[in-house]
Amino acid sequence: MTGHVYVTRQLTDDAMAAVAALGRPVVAGREEPPSRAELLRDVAGAAAVISTLTERLDAAVLDAAGPGLRVVANVAVGYDNVDVAAAHARDVVVTNTPGVLDAATADLTLGLVLALARRIAEGDRFLRTGTPWVWGPRMMTGLDLSAGATLGVIGYGRIGRAVARRARGFDMRVLATPTRTPLTEEEQAVEFRELPELLAGSDVVTLHCPLTPQTQHLIDDGALARMRPGALLVNTARGGIVDTDALLRALATGRLGGAALDVFEDEPHVDPRLLPLEQVVLTPHLGSAGDRTRSAMCRLAVRNVAAVLSGVEPPTPVGGLSG
Ligand code: DGY
Repeated sequence: MTGHVYVTRQLTDDAMAAVAALGRPVVAGREEPPSRAELLRDVAGAAAVISTLTERLDAAVLDAAGPGLRVVANVAVGYDNVDVAAAHARDVVVTNTPGVLDAATADLTLGLVLALARRIAEGDRFLRTGTPWVWGPRMMTGLDLSAGATLGVIGYGRIGRAVARRARGFDMRVLATPTRTPLTEEEQAVEFRELPELLAGSDVVTLHCPLTPQTQHLIDDGALARMRPGALLVNTARGGIVDTDALLRALATGRLGGAALDVFEDEPHVDPRLLPLEQVVLTPHLGSAGDRTRSAMCRLAVRNVAAVLSGVEPPTPVGGLSG
């Protein structure tokens, strides 16, 4: 087949209907990610690929698609799974889905901050053991967010700013790494700190930067050693930003008070050493998993494809090449 739209995985129903309405042949994958062999087979001859973060869209896949490929529309704001330089070198537009998932991801982040600080997941697990218990003044106490606790936001982009807004609603003091993005007055209502000072000054550190060669293992032994003793770490960005071995060392010594992880270094593999740790909260990459959010992400990806195939600027291109 040539000139088709290859949808690597089943999208939301409304988005699948929008794909059908593009008026091109469609090759659609299953709910689960395609194998590498299926990806290489089904991309051959495609004019457009709608991918998710589980597929590696590298030079080999772009070459397998052939010269008719015009756009890779990733259903995620992150696009570390796409070799953008290789795509641009082949005149292929890459798009992502920024904006529509900020609130959902920020909501989950605050949920994880609360779960960690107030030991919600641990309390839930405890009750399910059936262990006899009675209320006590010293029982399962945790960090009071609204008693002046400080949240450090690494990556003050759209999602980081949405997290900061929510944290202020909990009366937290908010630090953020500096940004060159123009900010509204409300968005400036945080204290900007370079990374070492932010790490040293926060009770809870939350990650909202993209995964790039510069941020790979940004949170390593050195960064963890700079954090306040007993501080908490939340990662809803990308697993590779945190060095899992270093994290486990910091948790084992008690240097780090706890961690909430929605993303993992070798996703979907979860390091089994994390599983028995009571001070660790784990969720399966749920940041954007709101019904309406997922639908908005999928529909935006289809809009990007429609635009490129009809020769106009797509709503959310990545990098320099579009249209
Ligand atoms: C993204 O959009 O990058 C998220 O990780 C997917 O929910």
